[in-house]
Amino acid sequence: MADSKDYIFKNTNGKLDFIGDFEGFYQADEDPWCQSGQGDMARYYQKSRQRILNKIDNKEEKSFIIEVGCGLGHFTEQIKVHHPTSEVFGVDLSQTAITKAKKLFAEPNFFVCNAKELSSQFSIKSVDVVILNQLLWYIVDDIEEALASIRAVLKQNGLLIISNAFAREQKYGLEKLPYFDGTQRFLTNMNEWQLISAEYYDDNETHTDGHFQMRPLHG
Ligand SMILES: C[S@@+](CC[C@H](N)C(=O)[O-])C[C@H]1O[C@@H](n2cnc3c(N)ncnc32)[C@H](O)[C@@H]1O
Repeated sequence: MADSKDYIFKNTNGKLDFIGDFEGFYQADEDPWCQSGQGDMARYYQKSRQRILNKIDNKEEKSFIIEVGCGLGHFTEQIKVHHPTSEVFGVDLSQTAITKAKKLFAEPNFFVCNAKELSSQFSIKSVDVVILNQLLWYIVDDIEEALASIRAVLKQNGLLIISNAFAREQKYGLEKLPYFDGTQRFLTNMNEWQLISAEYYDDNETHTDGHFQMRPLHG
């Protein structure tokens, strides 16, 4: 099993620098971050993913759903199974991840797309729900640009769900997104967005679980 630290973050004297070689990681490891739901993170993933599914359930309109940073598509597939009549897309930066996702799952539509370029691939104001699941730490530097692109494709009453693991001792992204509380503050202050809920769960797992729901303000 490859170590994400060789591909995604480099540890220099306790400080993490972002490398972001997602392609290399997907080529070296069959199941990066154990995203299939096996292994150490199994219980965490199960609970966290269920919390996202509940949020989608609570939304009245959900005919068009996109998971951004879908990886191998395990969670995208779960969404499609829960909402078989919805159009469900999974997009990811890594070509290898998308090729594997397509082989694993026939149903959701998968293709390569950077979170920052969503509005060049999907029609403006056409999407009901966008999900960023376990993507936050990889878009820290680009979060404004990514959220602007997501906002453009969301309908007036669309919903962005951000779900992420928070380390008990955070080593990256502290300047911008320090822990759950700091991330909540950052999202509250995002122009042209309304943060409608922020939920924090400590289930005694290695990581804690943060969930945010945001609504685009289209003016
Ligand atoms: C930890 S994995 C999460 C996979 C999936 N969301 C899940 O929870 O099972 C993070 C994924 O985000 C993708 N990614 C990183 N930066 C991205 C970006 N700017 N745009 C789209 N995908 C990105 C990576 O390639 C990787 O597949």
